[in-house]
Amino acid sequence: MPARDAGYCGGMQMPPPRGTLSQRVRDALADSSTRPLASRPAPAADDHADAMLSLWMLHELHYRGFDGVDERLEWDPALLGLRRRLEDDLEQDLRARFARSGVRAESAEEIFRIAEEHEGPSLASYVHRHATREQVLELLKARSVYHLKESDPVSWVIPRLGPVAKAALMELQYDEYGGGDPRRLHAHLFALGLEACGLDAEYGAYLPETPTEVLEQNNVMSLFGLHRRLRGAALGHLAAFEATSSLPSRRLAQGMDRLDMPAEIQHYYREHVEADAVHEQLAVRTICGALLAESPGLLDDVILGAWTCLDQEDRIAQHFWDRWGLAAAPSSAGAA
Ligand SMILES: [Fe+2]
Ligand SMILES: [Fe+2]
Repeated sequence: MPARDAGYCGGMQMPPPRGTLSQRVRDALADSSTRPLASRPAPAADDHADAMLSLWMLHELHYRGFDGVDERLEWDPALLGLRRRLEDDLEQDLRARFARSGVRAESAEEIFRIAEEHEGPSLASYVHRHATREQVLELLKARSVYHLKESDPVSWVIPRLGPVAKAALMELQYDEYGGGDPRRLHAHLFALGLEACGLDAEYGAYLPETPTEVLEQNNVMSLFGLHRRLRGAALGHLAAFEATSSLPSRRLAQGMDRLDMPAEIQHYYREHVEADAVHEQLAVRTICGALLAESPGLLDDVILGAWTCLDQEDRIAQHFWDRWGLAAAPSSAGAA
């Protein structure tokens, strides 16, 4: 791998704060004085951007951390206490939204039906036919928060599974992580795509301008991944993500071709057309199927995770719709 690749494998600078809580988290991490955070209340509900950035930073301690921040803070009781309060609020929101959706299912296989019936604004359809190059670049910057650590949140789930689900999840993750070849790691392919587009492939480079909806989406994946009790939601989320990736990936690649964008970024999306057609079968039928055979009581959480994946994508699409001043959204499910 070229030396340049080291950048997105390392830690990052802490992002600028979005309110008083994220400022306090930043200060606490910078000088390792976390005790004052233990008694701080969670931010008000209307300070969602502040809460989501704070939670994102606390989760990041479990991934690659921040330059200059003591690695022992990953397990600091005051930070864990704050993380717990922020996660509880987020989980409560997710469960309330899911309850309002009225979506129910009797088996994991119904995730295919839920994804098919789900109607939301489709960024992939918009990119396919209408987006400008500038809009696509904006989208790639937002996507980089996840794609530069693609598949990492679901890796937390692996040791919590029985043999069938674990073996199938490892098969899927093996693909995501390049099948033993670091040059084929999906996160690496995305980094090459960013660089070819003239964007910064450094991990976290675009965090300061990342929409709150994207931070929330990443927090949801970390929340589901980091809690063993939420393993059903993590795998349901994975299943819906994979089940709505193949076709949108094709549309995205074709849209980028229409705009004459670099082959490297098109390659990232084309790689997902075939890979995710396989992954959706693995994730829905084998992984979620085996999980529910072991633990039938997790069905509601699996469906919660699947629906939440689709809902999160809608929220991100709506953000760009509003930002770009679009009147009517091309509709179809699509988590790519
Ligand atoms: Fe991937
Ligand atoms: Fe995949």
